[in-house]
Amino acid sequence: MTYAQLMAQAVKAREGAYMPYSQFAVGAALLCKDGTVYTGCNIENAAFTPTVCAERVAFFKAVSDGRRDFSAIAVTGGPAGSPSASDTAPCGVCRQVMAEFCVAPDFEIVLGSGPEDYAVHTLAELLPLGFGPKNLHP
Ligand code: THU
Repeated sequence: MTYAQLMAQAVKAREGAYMPYSQFAVGAALLCKDGTVYTGCNIENAAFTPTVCAERVAFFKAVSDGRRDFSAIAVTGGPAGSPSASDTAPCGVCRQVMAEFCVAPDFEIVLGSGPEDYAVHTLAELLPLGFGPKNLHP
């Protein structure tokens, strides 16, 4: 699975976004170390706070299936009805969820508009000095 292929799955997952309030559609594709891919899209709610981001949907689907080891996540988003922009980055809450399961420094976050336009980041870069499992269980 190349990052271009993972990004293509994120673009496809974006089609499922339920975002009547923001009209901002996000897709994510989470690559497990065993090669399985879990996708997610943002799912909004009239009460606003129950809204979940695409990244967390992908993580929670995977974790609820017993997956714990992850290699990378591709994320893409932008206004509904338009192609993805290249600058949609995970929110702070999603970064914190990643920190729970992706303690290894090799977990990578692939951000871009599609298979031909993406950049690779590390979680350490996106969440410096984060609080994680190591703080509770040194
Ligand atoms: N959103 C995501 O799904 N992922 C991100 O990385 C940023 C924001 C969603 C949440 C909400 O449904 C919409 O985008 C606007 O914030």
